Amino acid sequence: MKYLIGIDVGTSATKTVLFDERGRAVASASKEYPMEQPENGWAQQRPEDWRDAVLSTLKTVSASVENREDILGIGLSGQMHGLVMLDEEGQVIRPAIIWCDQRAKEETEDMLKAMPREEWIRITANPPLAGWTAAKICWVKKHEPDNYRRCRHILLPKDYIRYILTGVHATEVSDASGMQLLDVPGRCWSKEVLKALSIDESLLGQVYESCEATGCLRREIARELGLGSQVVVAGGAGDNAAAAVGTGIVEDGRAFTTIGTSGVVFAHSSQLCIDPKGRVHTCCCAVPGAWHVMGVTQAAGLSLKWFRDQLCQEEIRRAEEEGRDVYDRLNEMAGRIPAGSDRLIYLPYLMGERTPHLDSDCRGVFFGLSGIHTKGHMLRAVMEGVAYSLCDCNQILNEMGITVGEMMACGGGGRSPLWRQMLADLYQCTVKTVEQSEGPALGAAILAGVACKLYPSVEEACHVIIHEESQTFPHEAESRLYGEYHKVYQGLYRSLREDYQKLAALP
Ligand code: XUL
Repeated sequence: MKYLIGIDVGTSATKTVLFDERGRAVASASKEYPMEQPENGWAQQRPEDWRDAVLSTLKTVSASVENREDILGIGLSGQMHGLVMLDEEGQVIRPAIIWCDQRAKEETEDMLKAMPREEWIRITANPPLAGWTAAKICWVKKHEPDNYRRCRHILLPKDYIRYILTGVHATEVSDASGMQLLDVPGRCWSKEVLKALSIDESLLGQVYESCEATGCLRREIARELGLGSQVVVAGGAGDNAAAAVGTGIVEDGRAFTTIGTSGVVFAHSSQLCIDPKGRVHTCCCAVPGAWHVMGVTQAAGLSLKWFRDQLCQEEIRRAEEEGRDVYDRLNEMAGRIPAGSDRLIYLPYLMGERTPHLDSDCRGVFFGLSGIHTKGHMLRAVMEGVAYSLCDCNQILNEMGITVGEMMACGGGGRSPLWRQMLADLYQCTVKTVEQSEGPALGAAILAGVACKLYPSVEEACHVIIHEESQTFPHEAESRLYGEYHKVYQGLYRSLREDYQKLAALP
């Protein structure tokens, strides 16, 4: 039996899973780390925390195989859009500015002065976005010129891990699409964009396809882990493109919704398909020669985690006493409240919002709070608000002619039957899960398996490995009710748009 390892450098934790060649998880380890928010709308993490988490979890999972020479390859997946800057010696220059950071709003305006919006959309398949890497690079250039001067390498989070593991500075097409420096139709760095932003191409790594080998594990790390000297590190993919592979979304007509820290509605597309209004993202996907379209809710699981951390100390304590996962408890509390939360609506804009508003300034709201509402109501409203936002994403995909008969669900939130029911009711379609719950880690491992020639192609590997598990069907009455609530939800942003700007301008 041969083995593959998938590493997912997430926002709340790194998860490393060892799979056998049939895609069965044999060992898994994860390690959490903090996210700093030094200012309203900012979000940073220490790349060294990711490194330590990867090295310690790799050690744990590698130890579970008797003959470690049978571990053939490692696939990397991770949070997209983050900016990691390294100096000449390969040392981290400043904390990574991560995907949900909204500080670079002004820089998106500068980017529009450097090149018209239509050109950005034509080349990078997206309008300038504050959370994407290019705007963050411009922010560092403007606000921290000394740091920029010292910078020799710009890497995405998982590509920093690639550097640690292999010594190679490289990336792959799916994650590189989210830097806004890639020619997305051509799958290579865009000379035009680099020139418009005065970014030297030598700062960026070589671009690979996701299922190509990018290097081998450094000898000293392989020795320390007891692994062979030729463990291949594959391109891997951004977490959403990797989750697509891990849930079998590798053909037209297939889509998934993931509820992790962010929430994403993702559809595979063999043809390049771009929203001219730029409300959803088009990126290269992990299947060579194909793309995907995705809508993003900035604070999906993040909203629930925020609620848990700020308002559920008692539930956390009791769950610990009972040896249960606190989220199971929170799901039960929310499940006791009727659909619609007795007229309470939550807008999940804790970190601004991408789809459909592309607005860095909007923030979260509870609308309709009354004396009858309990913590359970607020909890259910948080989950419903995230589902309304994901429904916005799905509606735009539908408007673009991307329709799917069924939706796969994954991510931590996708494990909640209550959240899946909300999605089925709002999308009015069947929501399914797959047996394998490792999502991005499994996708990354499959990509490594293709790079090692263990599997003939990404699609063929998925057909053999991924199996459907559960189905959730829409309920007619709830669908109708949520439809009404969703209209009110959509109207709230329109009413608040100008007030959000006034709020953002306050000291
Ligand atoms: C996608 C996005 C997030 C991150 C974090 O555009 O920003 O999904 O990848 O998971």
